[in-house]
Amino acid sequence: MHEITASHIQEAAGYITSLTSDQPEIGLIMGSGLGILSDYIEDATIIPYHQIPHFPISTVVGHAGELLIGKLAGRTVVLMSGRFHMYEGYGPELTAFPVRVMKALGVKHLIVTNAAGGINIEFKPGDLMVITDHINLTGRNPLVGRNDEELGDRFPDMSQAYSRRLGAIAKDEAAKLGFGLREGVYVGVLGPSYETPAEIRMMRTMGADAVGMSTVAEVIAARHSGIEVLGISCISNMASGILDQPLSHQEVIETTDKAQAQFLSLILAVIPAV
Ligand code: 6GU
Repeated sequence: MHEITASHIQEAAGYITSLTSDQPEIGLIMGSGLGILSDYIEDATIIPYHQIPHFPISTVVGHAGELLIGKLAGRTVVLMSGRFHMYEGYGPELTAFPVRVMKALGVKHLIVTNAAGGINIEFKPGDLMVITDHINLTGRNPLVGRNDEELGDRFPDMSQAYSRRLGAIAKDEAAKLGFGLREGVYVGVLGPSYETPAEIRMMRTMGADAVGMSTVAEVIAARHSGIEVLGISCISNMASGILDQPLSHQEVIETTDKAQAQFLSLILAVIPAV
């Protein structure tokens, strides 16, 4: 395990604050194919991950790997374009490290997005889903190890991991924009192989609506840090065994590309209301 300490967080945050005087209050983590938001940040300070002390480096195709800080829809935000997945080999504490850095920069609210497979048979590819809760099936937790009480509690509450307040704002704003949002439970898995049909049946029985390989470690660290979370999944494909067809990462990218416009308008409407 790679131990993250308060000084690692301070060094990363200190480097970032040496490059910009902007003080972000909203953090954004964009999933596969949802990085378009970075084009809308005004006067962005763009920092490649490899320049930030202790930051891991993203390896997935379609993930740029940079932090952007600037104004979006009238608020100061810090946006991660590309995230760290545990299937890349990073420990959960490294996956969650950027969230700790966001907290140190002053972030109070975090919007996390992902591409997810639809488990709920009512869902259609391209649907957007407000995450109401998650099931952590990754077998990992970013809080394992010594707990720094300055960062958060040893046994943090997870009874409202995803803010009902922010979820309601998202639903209201989507309605104003003329589209509906699904809501449901996101199950996080380690990956990188997609699930078998039997695993998907198990997850549906458990009460899961969508499945993906990100988000849970980041959200656990955010809640530990006292950051309020809004999670939105783009249902990029139906999960294994629902349709009689194999899953492909290409399909995930193509559907999220198509959903980007709606997704973008939603985030831009939510930000001022947060
Ligand atoms: Cl079907 N499964 C997982 N684990 N992640 C996904 C997905 C499915 N579709 C998009 N991301």
